[in-house]
Amino acid sequence: MKDNCNKVLNKNIEIIIFGATGDLAHKKLFPSISNLFKDFKYKDKFNILALGRNEETTSDFTQRFNDTIDKENREQFYSKIEYFVCDFLKKEDLEKLKIRLDKTCSSKILYLAIPPSLYEAVILNIEEVGLNKPCSNHNNFIRIVLEKPFGENLKTSKSLNKTLLSGFSENQIFRIDHYLGKEPIQNIFSFRFANNIFENLWNNNYIDNIQIKVSEDIGIETRGFFYEQTGALVDVFQNHILQMLSVLTMDTPYLFEEKYIRKEKNNILKKLTFSDVIKGQYIGYKEENNVSPDSLTETYIALKLEIKNSRWRNVPIYIETGKFLKEKKTEISVVFKKGNNNLFKKNGHNVLKFLIQPALGIGLTMLAKIPSIYDYEVSNINMLYNFSDYFGEVKSEYEKLLIDCIEGNQINFTRSDEIESSWILVDKIKTDIKNKKPILYKKGSLGPTERDMFLKKDNRYWIS
Ligand code: BG6
Repeated sequence: MKDNCNKVLNKNIEIIIFGATGDLAHKKLFPSISNLFKDFKYKDKFNILALGRNEETTSDFTQRFNDTIDKENREQFYSKIEYFVCDFLKKEDLEKLKIRLDKTCSSKILYLAIPPSLYEAVILNIEEVGLNKPCSNHNNFIRIVLEKPFGENLKTSKSLNKTLLSGFSENQIFRIDHYLGKEPIQNIFSFRFANNIFENLWNNNYIDNIQIKVSEDIGIETRGFFYEQTGALVDVFQNHILQMLSVLTMDTPYLFEEKYIRKEKNNILKKLTFSDVIKGQYIGYKEENNVSPDSLTETYIALKLEIKNSRWRNVPIYIETGKFLKEKKTEISVVFKKGNNNLFKKNGHNVLKFLIQPALGIGLTMLAKIPSIYDYEVSNINMLYNFSDYFGEVKSEYEKLLIDCIEGNQINFTRSDEIESSWILVDKIKTDIKNKKPILYKKGSLGPTERDMFLKKDNRYWIS
């Protein structure tokens, strides 16, 4: 089952979207694909086969995107879409799909935009009817795409990986963590490895602590049922935060290639331990739809982690994520140790900040002399690289990930071993917090008030 990713430009590609009538397809996939059409080098090369259970025609189906897709793009984009009625839990429907796909015999991207609870059953059906096998043209590729969460714990993630790997090889499997499609995260590779100045300081001799914050100003919206099963730990920490952390702290990969990058990321994930936690819940969460009135689910979590390797030993990593906090912000702060001279009254930490969203950039706080002809005093200043000042508009993460998938580039996708290593850590934290009562916090606040003490007791403070 060799994946022929290099010949992609000569191919006709069909993107087969399972769950095309669902939320993910509506809000993210179709708008991103339609954006790609504007300047996309493959635009005449691919078609979309939208699968859904509703009995409707292609034109009924495309009408539902009128609110999300620009008017000027619609006609051309809609001409690329075919709606195909299919209950992918029924093998006979997938057999019909196979007959349809054999007719065009293109390269195929099987995109599972379906609830994760259906993954295994649908993948088994796909494998049983042979949708994972190329049609007569053996130069065509077949890839499968799925979105996090990959399993609910180590056991179920292993089982999912086993099912996937029984019909697909690892280089055909594209596990999406959309954070890896964000430009500022991809920029961490070049920041670290194209600029030698920081890489030499990237260790416990120079770094005091690391902080990763993913704060959201919205609640769980209509996802009560889903969120009750996940909480902040599984919804955001297990995937987005651990992926950012592994990119930030991994050793230099041998080459800028997926197999070396994923290996180094996994080396970090395997060495992570945790020692402290705050579990919080916003006031009003228990009244949300599909949430139990006695729910112990965390909508906020703060964690103290450590990477047990020689580079990072004794560098605490503080994590904070939650819903209904003061603002929408994702940031990584690398806090450097203070210098050991006493020349100036002020002797602060240098902080390097990766701004992931809403601002995209990198900032470095430094101490600088306050201009004066009388005194010599220093004050904090901020050096800032703002993406938009240099490069203008940045594409959305889904556009990037779709292109990667079409081109067979897996750098921004997670491998089975990374997923399993992250679950080993997350399962331990889950067991630890399972029966703990969450600390309540007000909507729009910074989180539970205990968060200050969380760092103060280590003689540190949150970088705001
Ligand atoms: C998703 C989570 O994976 O990421 C959501 O399920 C969360 O709960 C979202 O809101 C955050 O993504 P972003 O890109 O808006 O930070």
